[in-house]
Amino acid sequence: MKIIRTKDYQDMSRKAANIISAQMILKDDSVLGLATGSTPIGIYDQLVDWYKKGDLDFSKITTVNLDEYKGLPKENDQSYWYFMNKNLFSRVNIRPDYHFLPDGTNLDSDNECERYEKLIDSLGGIDLQLLGLGRNGHIGFNEPCDSFPQDVHVVDLTESTIEANKRFFASADDVPKQAYTMGVGTILRAKAILLVVSGKDKAEALNAVVNGPITPQVPGSVLRLHPNVIIVADEDALSEME
Ligand code: F6R
Repeated sequence: MKIIRTKDYQDMSRKAANIISAQMILKDDSVLGLATGSTPIGIYDQLVDWYKKGDLDFSKITTVNLDEYKGLPKENDQSYWYFMNKNLFSRVNIRPDYHFLPDGTNLDSDNECERYEKLIDSLGGIDLQLLGLGRNGHIGFNEPCDSFPQDVHVVDLTESTIEANKRFFASADDVPKQAYTMGVGTILRAKAILLVVSGKDKAEALNAVVNGPITPQVPGSVLRLHPNVIIVADEDALSEME
């Protein structure tokens, strides 16, 4: 694991965007694995900025996202598709049919999980997977559990996640109860992994990922088994490092 220390969120975003753009320049038809959440927003802004300046080209790039809520259509402003479209896809010259997320409207979980895993395989795998880190060490929607889930699978959202999401929906019934996510195996099959971490509230999780035991109780710790992981983290996120 290579750890790149940055001053703050902005510095983290710029350095991580540099790594992604290097990948895109070296291989213009790269398959990029992408993430949602607050951490990558600055990275996407930076990539869009370089695209607008003519320094980056998405015309041969393919993207696959980590996860999506089951039951939410693209148009729902809480869907991850909506997030990606707003923050990246609609702002660059990526081809419409070349950015993929699990299909939240496919309610047949077995079918959707198999379809998405096969889709990733058919693209020749992921060249560079961008990951954020949960405060409990989760990656994608792989929450602490007793064994590492391998392939794309459906997860039940915890009561606390459902409760926290309630405010974004018209009624409690509309809050998604499940999500599709790449498994730990899917993530580890990526050729390279870029984990971005910012803020004091992630410091304990990051220390556990880097220095603790490799355990499904800290899903991110499994990244230590991958030969090509770069962590870009700001000082706050590195503040608990042993
Ligand atoms: C997002 C994802 C999540 C987030 C993680 C960190 O697609 O799969 O694992 O990366 O929850 O989220 P933020 O960046 O909002 O702290």
